Amino acid sequence: MNIAIIGTGNVGGALATNWSKKGHNINLGVRDVNQFKGIELLKNQNTKAHSINEAVAQSEVILISTPPTAIIEIIEQMGDVTGKIIIDATNAVRQQPDPYKTVYHCLAEKTKAEIVKCFNSTGFENMLNPIYNGEGIDMFMAGDSELAKKAAAQLALDAGFGTCMDFGKSDKVELLEKLALSWINLAIMQGHGRNMAFKVVRR
Ligand SMILES: NC(=O)c1ccc[n+]([C@@H]2O[C@H](COP(=O)([O-])OP(=O)(O)OC[C@H]3O[C@@H](n4cnc5c(N)ncnc54)[C@H](OP(=O)(O)O)[C@@H]3O)[C@@H](O)[C@H]2O)c1
Repeated sequence: MNIAIIGTGNVGGALATNWSKKGHNINLGVRDVNQFKGIELLKNQNTKAHSINEAVAQSEVILISTPPTAIIEIIEQMGDVTGKIIIDATNAVRQQPDPYKTVYHCLAEKTKAEIVKCFNSTGFENMLNPIYNGEGIDMFMAGDSELAKKAAAQLALDAGFGTCMDFGKSDKVELLEKLALSWINLAIMQGHGRNMAFKVVRR
């Protein structure tokens, strides 16, 4: 797939690296192509840096992994995203993209893209390496677009996750952000460390 990564820091960098190894074409969408967090990602295979507008134009899938408050500015720069798949990996934990509750809700109102919330519920280290004891941990996704969910689920498997569990439709997007907050609570606030992850078990 041709994937635009907007937000090339911890999360965007981990997924850009992981997906480039799987042969995807990575179009980093940045504010300044000469100076941005994650510039070393250009050493990865199949990886180029562009303006946000150009990265989007060259991609069918767009990952948003920026602070949530940047979304209005990003929407203005992306250009026409009608029918493109947008994966929202942000968490409005500290700041909301006012007046919207989440980036997903803002994208749903302001664009005609196929949107899914995914790659938000665990730490970036787990997105670079989701393998624990020889098994892939679980990723989760929520939203109304089946097309976007299909792409996100494939990209989760490509990244090494064991499954990408459907968390529900757009009414579950905020709950999925709460799952991220639960990981942050355990890993950081309760001090269990970032090398931990969620996996659903069944019997
Ligand atoms: N850290 C985690 O483990 C984790 C896990 C799951 C979800 N998340 C969520 O993922 C998002 C990113 O977190 P992160 O830790 O990856 O952040 P980060 O390392 O600080 O990276 C932020 C990125 O966003 C870019 N950016 C900031 N404002 C922008 C704007 N107005 N337009 C375009 N790009 C902009 C920055 O670009 P410049 O280089 O130009 O500044 C940078 O590449 C957040 O919403 C966070 O809640 C984080």
